[in-house]
Amino acid sequence: MRHFYRLSEFSMEEVQRFLQRAAEFKLNPYSNCLDRRQLALIFLNPSLRTRCSFEVAIRQMGGGFSTLEGQSLWKLETQFGVRMDEDKTEHVKEAVGVLSRYFDGLGLRSFARGENKEEDLADRTFTTFMDHSQVPVFNMESASYHPCQALADLMTLQELFGGLKGRRLTIIWAQHPLSLPMAVPNSILLAATQMGMDVTLGHPQGFEIQPGILSMAEVLAERSGGKLRIINDREEAVRDTEVIYAKAWGGLSRYEDPEGEKALRQQHQNWIVDSELMALTRRAYFMHCLPVRRNVVVTDEVIDSARSVIFHQAENRLHAQKAILEWIFS
Ligand code: CP
Repeated sequence: MRHFYRLSEFSMEEVQRFLQRAAEFKLNPYSNCLDRRQLALIFLNPSLRTRCSFEVAIRQMGGGFSTLEGQSLWKLETQFGVRMDEDKTEHVKEAVGVLSRYFDGLGLRSFARGENKEEDLADRTFTTFMDHSQVPVFNMESASYHPCQALADLMTLQELFGGLKGRRLTIIWAQHPLSLPMAVPNSILLAATQMGMDVTLGHPQGFEIQPGILSMAEVLAERSGGKLRIINDREEAVRDTEVIYAKAWGGLSRYEDPEGEKALRQQHQNWIVDSELMALTRRAYFMHCLPVRRNVVVTDEVIDSARSVIFHQAENRLHAQKAILEWIFS
């Protein structure tokens, strides 16, 4: 049984194989790889791209699906050994056990809740689903990882540059009114270092990536011949880069001190991608996973410019996810 949890569990060659199959699916969208298999797409959080791209991919691969949204499910208990006398109606163990009897695979979206640090950093909801499922579980964005987005992003970069090794990518923190989860920055950071890119992580102090992810990225960069540097100055972080990947994320201090984290975040209103920032780069492409808040994270001028590849990224979700589904069920 093959779960699909994070890209860093695969070798560089295996990721290249996913990218090759995704490119082939882009040329030939229809197949019978799923051969009437039935998949449950479980969204404990909202989605536009992930939901639609998986639904279309499954149809084009000859499978069927049910999309289950969090608000229409019983509220799930993910802790073990607790007395369920509050608002949680169904334990994840029963829910997953039942779904495993109906479906051939389960896709799950389970964002960080931002309340319990240990639970979020351990990706507890997703790993509990994997532990109790009798069928493959694939990650449609968990607390820590968004591997489908990362694979589509690698595909986009490969199409733009013809290769990944040595290309200069800056992942830059952006201002946001909410303290967002870290799954996307974690995943693009790991994927780019894994594939030998020259990566700069730019963020203000207080918005560090969790230490476990950072050390994993350092190991991956070392192994692939890539580079990783962290810069706390917004302009220095993008100087001469070839790609700006913008993303807002919350500081880890939010778990102990949410008000302090909010105040710190609001001090950095100037961390927006605008034309002046783009002018410091080597005619960089602009990337973002979407959804994005215009004129908070990025100006209209930049997102609407010819260097913005946001729709290219979103389209590649469809092709990349077919390569993942094919691997799971082959
Ligand atoms: N990028 C992404 O995962 O988009 P959705 O949250 O809309 O699925």
